[in-house]
Amino acid sequence: MTTKQTLTFDEYLIYEELDRMTDRKSLPQVLKQRREKLATQFPTPVLLWSGQSSSRNFPANIFPFRASSHFLYFAGLPLENAAIRLEQGKLTLFMDAGSPASTLWHGESPTPEVIAAQMGADAVYPLADLERMTAGCATIPVQDRATQALQSQLLNRAIAPIDASDSLDRQLMQAIVALRLVHDTYALAELRQAAAISIQAHKAGMRTTPTAKTEAEVRAAMEAVILAHNATTAYNSIVTVHGEVLHNNHYHHDLRSGDLLLADVGAEVASGWASDITRTWPVSGKFSPTQRSLYEVVLHAHDRCIAAMRPGVEYRDIHLLAAQTIAEGLLDLGILWGKAEDLVERDAYALFFPHGVGHLLGLDVHDMEDLGDLAGYAEGRTRSDRFGLCYLRLDRPLQPGMLVTIEPGFYQVPAILSDPDRRETYRDVVNWERLAEFQDVRGIRIEDDVLVTETGTEILTKDLSTQADAIEQLISH
Ligand code: GLY
Ligand code: MN
Ligand code: MN
Repeated sequence: MTTKQTLTFDEYLIYEELDRMTDRKSLPQVLKQRREKLATQFPTPVLLWSGQSSSRNFPANIFPFRASSHFLYFAGLPLENAAIRLEQGKLTLFMDAGSPASTLWHGESPTPEVIAAQMGADAVYPLADLERMTAGCATIPVQDRATQALQSQLLNRAIAPIDASDSLDRQLMQAIVALRLVHDTYALAELRQAAAISIQAHKAGMRTTPTAKTEAEVRAAMEAVILAHNATTAYNSIVTVHGEVLHNNHYHHDLRSGDLLLADVGAEVASGWASDITRTWPVSGKFSPTQRSLYEVVLHAHDRCIAAMRPGVEYRDIHLLAAQTIAEGLLDLGILWGKAEDLVERDAYALFFPHGVGHLLGLDVHDMEDLGDLAGYAEGRTRSDRFGLCYLRLDRPLQPGMLVTIEPGFYQVPAILSDPDRRETYRDVVNWERLAEFQDVRGIRIEDDVLVTETGTEILTKDLSTQADAIEQLISH
């Protein structure tokens, strides 16, 4: 094992930078355990590529690079333009040493040998040597097209993101899903760190709201916290007074005193592990009575879902519990008519809660969705086409070590509520006059990251209160 003392000065600096990103000492051991587990489920050799950056205009002006998560899971380090070969628990790294031109523009980088030692690789070769070690290997396509083409060329076959047949690649995907579904303690330490940074970001967003004039200013305050931790955002932040646009990535609106601000912002730490938090708060610092009553409906759904979670419980039933709770809350407020069970049966709640209650979280937000529903849906299960279930991203029994989000919401989406067919379908259950009294609520979502434990759950994001009173306090301090 290479030690710090054997590194050059420049390598030492970079080693230190990596040092901050993870518990470096245990990384080789953790990676070894992961690949040994993979080997027991999937004995075939595996090649995983990290991917490469794409340029904006000239080659050196690049979009931010993000290594493939499957590569990160087994390689541990966010290397660009590298590949690993896994066989029977052994790791071979393929990467090139920095060229003189790369050193001129980007500075010294650690040698491939140093990197190999950091990840506990058994061997390291230049990328050109990959060509003679691809026979019979399974792989998973990375996101960038250039690397996908390279994968296809080197393996001499088509590479498909989600393959319906029982191909070797699909079997590899299933084996990796089984591993990545359940987080090891190393991953959990990183996930906790991502959650802790996101909590600070949300508190900064709340604190800055009274003096901010636009969504962009609140977003800047939140992302400043993330960037200051040498982290990045795990997805494009949503910071909007138009929370009814579910994935709103515009930040130009002014903040007005009667608005609710919905902030869905999550950090990703340097090792790639993610978090995903949403809070909704009043710009004025005080929820209006209508805002507070709908907030409490969503919060009740959030709390009930988490309280019901434990190993063996179906995540689909957690979604349906959120649906039932929202239906009951809207009945109590006089927005819906009828019986909660019927409203759930008829998907009427989805008029106001048109997405799933959450998803897997890990190295990515919507973890492993590059594999379609292979991770989210248990073997033999497929998506429903029902209005209330078609966006359910996870349909599996919960297992200890799984990390999921719980994120019920209430939205008034014009495209849904003005749709003539929907209005006709639900003519007998919506009290439109009563709904009109809640005009100051466009969108509310409350989202936490919830770890399934042996006995129940641990909310990794619990240090950011969901209580309306506590949120009002955070805004005014
Ligand atoms: N931040 C995206 C989501 O909550 O699914
Ligand atoms: Mn989410
Ligand atoms: Mn989110």
